[in-house]
Amino acid sequence: MQFLDPLLEQYAEEHSAPEPGYLIELAEETKANVDLPQMLSGHLQGRFMSMISKLMAPQLILEIGTYTGYSALCLAEGLSIKGKLHTIDINTRLAGMVDKYVRKADYQDRIHQHLAPATEVIPTIEGTFDLVFIDADKPNYCNYFDLVIDRIRSGGLIIADNVLWSGHVLSPESKMDNETKGLHAYATKVKADHRVENVLLPIRDGLMVSRRK
Ligand SMILES: C[S@@+](CC[C@H](N)C(=O)[O-])C[C@H]1O[C@@H](n2cnc3c(N)ncnc32)[C@H](O)[C@@H]1O
Repeated sequence: MQFLDPLLEQYAEEHSAPEPGYLIELAEETKANVDLPQMLSGHLQGRFMSMISKLMAPQLILEIGTYTGYSALCLAEGLSIKGKLHTIDINTRLAGMVDKYVRKADYQDRIHQHLAPATEVIPTIEGTFDLVFIDADKPNYCNYFDLVIDRIRSGGLIIADNVLWSGHVLSPESKMDNETKGLHAYATKVKADHRVENVLLPIRDGLMVSRRK
C-alpha cells in the first residue's frame, strides 16, 4: 500500500534537506545488488531520523536491524562528539557493504556493527540508551522493547519502524500472519505501557515514536 500520493511524496522530498552523497550511492547500490531494497528507510524517513538525532545529540544509540546501513548513517549524524552507535544484524553477507559506507561517511570510530541475533547482543552492550531504533524481525518487537525499556534514560526515545505494515494491521486478528501479529502486539503493548508516551506517525510504513517518561 502506498500511503502518500507519489507526487506528494516527491514534493515532500524536494522540500526536505537532501541526502548526503554517500547515502544516495548506498541506496543506489542497495537497489541494484541487494534483495528486498524496499527495506531501506529512504530519503524522507532518513531525514526525519537524522533530524530527531540532531535534536537529541545522543551519547548512545542502539539500532536493531542494520541491513545495508542507511538508517544507521542517518541516526549517526546527530551523535554528540563522543557518542557511539551500536547496530545489530544477523546478515553477515551485508557487513562488508555496511563497513564500506561507514568508512566513506567517516564514522568508523563511532559506529559498531554486531553480527548475531539481537536478543543475544543487546544484553552485552553496556550503558544507558538515548535513542533506540527497532527495525528487525517483527515477531520480536515486543521482546526488543522489554530488553531496552529499563535501559533508556528519561526523555529518551524508542522508534519502531513498519508499524502500519502496508495496512495489514487493519486485518482481523484471526487473519494476521506472524509479522502482522507481532507489529499489532507491539502497538497494543506500548499504548498500554505507562512508562512511555507514544505517537504513531504515518511516515512511509509507519513509525511508532515512544518517549520514556
Ligand atoms: C528492514 S531491515 C533494516 C533496514 C535498515 N534499518 C534501514 O532502514 O536501512 C531488517 C534487518 O533486520 C535483520 N534481522 C532480522 N532478524 C534479526 C535478528 N533476530 N537479529 C538481528 N537482526 C535481524 C535482517 O537481516 C535485516 O537486515
